[in-house]
Amino acid sequence: MEKSQIQKLIRIAAEQMSYSYVPYSHFHVGAALLGKNGKIYGGCNIENAAYTPTNCAERTAFFKAVSEGVRDFTAICVVGGKDGVPRSYAPPCGVCRQVMREFCDPEKFVIILAAGPEDYETFLLKDLLPMGFGPENLD
Ligand code: THU
Repeated sequence: MEKSQIQKLIRIAAEQMSYSYVPYSHFHVGAALLGKNGKIYGGCNIENAAYTPTNCAERTAFFKAVSEGVRDFTAICVVGGKDGVPRSYAPPCGVCRQVMREFCDPEKFVIILAAGPEDYETFLLKDLLPMGFGPENLD
């Protein structure tokens, strides 16, 4: 991916942190999901007083896109930190990796973890979710 494209995703993911609803953890997470259609779907984490209904930023972005009929994706960028200040990378939780596995080719889908415009690393889904269970396993 081009650096300018990566930095655009980082900027949008960081902006999304301002929408995080996090009265319990105060840990803001923003995501920017790039569709193969070129559109970017933002997402934030949304917590809940009962805790388990909490939705991560990555899944919010995926579910927004999928609920609009979009199922093909190139990359996702995740930015997070306590009180909305990214101090290190915020890697996606196992549930979010599994949601990525449902819609994305593990060999190609890129996960960008960032703490700033010049502070990022890229990973392939296959490396963050080795031997994942996907739709083909049900064939
Ligand atoms: N969180 C995310 O949004 N994405 C992840 O992949 C990891 C965790 C959120 C959930 C919760 O609101 C807060 O971070 C602390 O766990």
